[in-house]
Amino acid sequence: MPNLLAGKVGIISGALNEKSIAWKVAQKAHAEGARFVLTNAPLAMRMGEINALAEECNAPIIAADATSVEDLEKLFSGAQEQLGGKIDFVLHSIGMSPNIRKGKHYGELNYDWFQKTLDISALSLHKMLHVAEKQDALNEWGSVVALSYIAAQRAFLDYTDMSQAKAVLESIARSYGQRLGKQKKVRVNTVSQSPTKTTAGAGISGFDAFYDYADKLSPLGNAPAEACADYCISLFSDLTRYVTMQNLMHDGGFSTTGISEEMVEVLTKASS
Ligand SMILES: NC(=O)c1ccc[n+]([C@@H]2O[C@H](COP(=O)([O-])OP(=O)(O)OC[C@H]3O[C@@H](n4cnc5c(N)ncnc54)[C@H](O)[C@@H]3O)[C@@H](O)[C@H]2O)c1
Repeated sequence: MPNLLAGKVGIISGALNEKSIAWKVAQKAHAEGARFVLTNAPLAMRMGEINALAEECNAPIIAADATSVEDLEKLFSGAQEQLGGKIDFVLHSIGMSPNIRKGKHYGELNYDWFQKTLDISALSLHKMLHVAEKQDALNEWGSVVALSYIAAQRAFLDYTDMSQAKAVLESIARSYGQRLGKQKKVRVNTVSQSPTKTTAGAGISGFDAFYDYADKLSPLGNAPAEACADYCISLFSDLTRYVTMQNLMHDGGFSTTGISEEMVEVLTKASS
């Protein structure tokens, strides 16, 4: 169905480079007829790659550190100004852990950094929705999607404090989903995506191994970033108006598989 987002306007965060999930969401939203503002942290902006995407999608850019309420206020008011009205969809595609960056394992986390992880990767969704509500910036039947990972439900030690961040993120989506659903019929969901080869993904120690493991376990294989973007577009569209407060698995079947033939083969070979 073409033009699934015709007439809709939005805010897309987190497009750092071509590999970013948000980058693909922006391209697909543009192809489906949406207009939107791109946003990222001022630091990420300096790399400059976002300019090419902005040009391709004819989208203005507004820099905002997602941990700063002041920046987010400027983002939401600026977006409404540039787009000429209230916002129909928001993509939260933001994650960063200083502990992962510095290679700290779970037993030696730096607590100041832990708080930074939570602030950037989880509370930023609360701050965004807080600002959106205060400015009455969202249209009725709007849709908010944040990206998550299954480490919110299951232990993946190398994902360290991001596991807790994702659990908080999913919980915020439920609470704000209830609040904004009642107030404005706005839905809020998280999409729990397969391991994906992006800048954030590749920063996790042992990433290649758990990418391969998930790929071998999932009957459909790991979901690529493009497919994740398609799912996000469907959630922004009017076809999913009653889906809210959900953590939606987009993982090729990983989360409900016990063991697969491929894994049996690998383990049999290893033990023989
Ligand atoms: N890559 C994976 O394996 C995977 C799997 C499941 C979920 N996710 C989630 O998908 C989302 C997008 O990540 P990605 O994989 O596309 O990687 P990415 O590195 O391309 O995107 C992460 C983005 O977060 C932005 N960011 C960091 N700090 C910020 C701040 N203070 N303010 C505003 N923006 C900030 C970065 O600039 C970057 O654009 C993240 O929430 C990530 O946790 C990724």
